[in-house]
Amino acid sequence: MMKIVVEKNYEDLSKVAANLVREEIEKNPKLVLGLATGSTPEGMYKELIRLHKEEGLDFSKVTTFNLDEYVGIEEEHPNSYHYFMKDILFNHINIDMNNTFIPDGQAENPEEYCKKYDKLIEEKGGIDLQILGIGENGHIAFNEPDEELNVGTSIVGLTESTIEANSRFFDSIDEVPKTAITMGIGSIMKAKKIILLANGKKKAPVIKELLKAEKITTKLPASMLLLHHDVTIILDEEAYRG
Ligand code: F6R
Repeated sequence: MMKIVVEKNYEDLSKVAANLVREEIEKNPKLVLGLATGSTPEGMYKELIRLHKEEGLDFSKVTTFNLDEYVGIEEEHPNSYHYFMKDILFNHINIDMNNTFIPDGQAENPEEYCKKYDKLIEEKGGIDLQILGIGENGHIAFNEPDEELNVGTSIVGLTESTIEANSRFFDSIDEVPKTAITMGIGSIMKAKKIILLANGKKKAPVIKELLKAEKITTKLPASMLLLHHDVTIILDEEAYRG
């Protein structure tokens, strides 16, 4: 079931999302939390940091799994998702870094590594709450629209539109990796609860498509969420109305 929440603006969306995360951590301090990178959840991370610093929200027993990472750039690279997560969240809360997992874009044996990542999620008890953004092309994590979608964590090629969208973080479009490692649709669908966030006018067309979808299609990877029993979509007015 998809529950739709529309907030006035990005700030409110971020606060509502952070509060849902807070509630889950308070219910279960050992929460296994699935995290996304990108611009969308930045405000939510900022609010989670505030909740930690000002209201004592405790991450010490929380485990996190990130959705994806570029292949071909080092963890220390400022554009890697490893770097991003430390910079935007992990360095500012009391999480045990040993409990944070991000796919390794440098793995020597990628195929084996992908299987290991899914197995590790399972060993930690599965993802309790997964945070998602959505691409303008309907991707979730880096599961791009295609004839087929991967079930488990996989190495994938990024589409031109994703490379272009992500080029805003790089000096030039040629520097954007063309390959990534990403949790598959199955890895995401196994999460007990999912929150998808979208803000801004640019996301309005894909959100409109998703909200009117009555069929699932690999051409709109986010439509797979129609099969999940506990999805909350949190939007701002701009993403909702355009
Ligand atoms: C990031 C991820 C992507 C983004 C999506 C939206 O870990 O999995 O699917 O959520 O590309 O990106 P932003 O938030 O930058 O618009």
